[in-house]
Amino acid sequence: MIAAWRCAGNKRILPSEFTTFYPNPGVFTESTQFRMLDESRLAYDREIGLMANDTQQELTAGTGQQPVFEDARDPVTRRAFIKSVIATGAVASTGGLMLTGLSGCSDDATPAAGSVERLVTLNINGKSRPVDVLPNETLAMTLRYKLGLTGTKLACDRGECGACTVLIDDVTHNSCSTLTHSVRGREVTTVEGLEQPDGTLHPVQQAMIDELGPQCGFCTPGQVMSGVALLKNNPSPTREEVREGMAGNLCRCGAYDHYLNSIMRAARVS
Ligand code: FES
Ligand code: FES
Repeated sequence: MIAAWRCAGNKRILPSEFTTFYPNPGVFTESTQFRMLDESRLAYDREIGLMANDTQQELTAGTGQQPVFEDARDPVTRRAFIKSVIATGAVASTGGLMLTGLSGCSDDATPAAGSVERLVTLNINGKSRPVDVLPNETLAMTLRYKLGLTGTKLACDRGECGACTVLIDDVTHNSCSTLTHSVRGREVTTVEGLEQPDGTLHPVQQAMIDELGPQCGFCTPGQVMSGVALLKNNPSPTREEVREGMAGNLCRCGAYDHYLNSIMRAARVS
């Protein structure tokens, strides 16, 4: 079966495509077809010198053929070549470590040249939160896994669904696509920051409950944050404006009309 997925020439084919390659398949038994593919693959792999020894032995077992253990044209086998590349890379990266130290982790208070300070203080929901942040860390990861603010959801993790929406200086952002280091000195608001200290919910949150907005609820925090930002900018929107303003928030359950009703209710009462 493995052979059927491999190549004739360099094109991968499936058993269902045999008729394309062999116009009169009736003259072949299935084992003949597979043997032809095996032989074709062996020839091709030998030609380009890419076959690993164990694969050759697996394919030639019981066929009477002698496995080819090395590319006759080149004494450097593919396996030896890969090993040498890995070894070279390991030496290079170790050398870099010895010369520059761990990125952002210099012995004294100043970060190493070219690195990013990892210990930062973020303004989250009106509080200063010190946190250790990797140079390539996204805000969604920091919020959820370092600060325990799991109201912000991660779904697509590529800026397509809006589940991770937070406010940065009152503007909606996909936190899965925002580097945490880029929000230093800015105000970040998550769904946990909407409630009043006495427990009173934000009008958008309350309206979601009153209108039975969510179904499974997974997309709801993102929908709430987009609704809050929308009403900040436009306190009396039309239904069409709400529809447009919430367009970046996808709902797998399809509860769009319920969310629209919720935002319209929040606009009326606030
Ligand atoms: S998880 Fe961020 S946009 Fe989907
Ligand atoms: S309520 Fe389920 S994904 Fe929106």
